[in-house]
Amino acid sequence: MKTLIIFYSLEGNTKFLAESISSTIGADTFEIKTTKEMGTGFMKYFWGGKQVMMKEKPEILSFDKNLADYEMILIGSPVWASTFAPALYTFLNNNKIAGKKVALFCSYGGSVGRTLDNLKVVLKDNEIVGEIGFKNPLKDKEASAKKIQEWIKDIMAKQI
Ligand SMILES: Cc1cc2nc3c(=O)[nH]c(=O)nc-3n(C[C@H](O)[C@H](O)[C@H](O)COP(=O)(O)O)c2cc1C
Repeated sequence: MKTLIIFYSLEGNTKFLAESISSTIGADTFEIKTTKEMGTGFMKYFWGGKQVMMKEKPEILSFDKNLADYEMILIGSPVWASTFAPALYTFLNNNKIAGKKVALFCSYGGSVGRTLDNLKVVLKDNEIVGEIGFKNPLKDKEASAKKIQEWIKDIMAKQI
């Protein structure tokens, strides 16, 4: 099944999850990047939190894939202020995803919050085939990779 992984990651945790998936199933990957770099110092919480609160849609670099080419889309995000990252919000606004099999993964430092539920609302025109959250996946790379690889293999095995 032709699969695309779309993800945003500021500090590498979600990226690690995306790469662990792609190395297992050989999917294409698109990393969402904002046109303006956001620092990774303490101020990220201020700017990132503000973006979520104000429902901002930060400008992102253009999408170089064609959604029509894929049957399954895997979407990954860090948890920001209890929901998915604003850059993914921009992406989902710019690119209508419908009629796909969709699986969701996220990375958080405390708790998953409303992230997966909010994503499911935005992606309501799709069949959600899986969802998973990881707490600080980079802290134990081996365990995280194993867990997400088992998760994706199980999902793929259930698809026809
Ligand atoms: C702006 C901002 C807001 C965050 N808000 C939350 C939160 O509400 N809940 C939580 O558990 N973690 C929160 N975090 C922590 C991240 O979700 C966590 O570090 C995640 O693994 C980062 O993923 P990344 O490395 O792919 O960017 C926040 C991080 C940032 C930068």
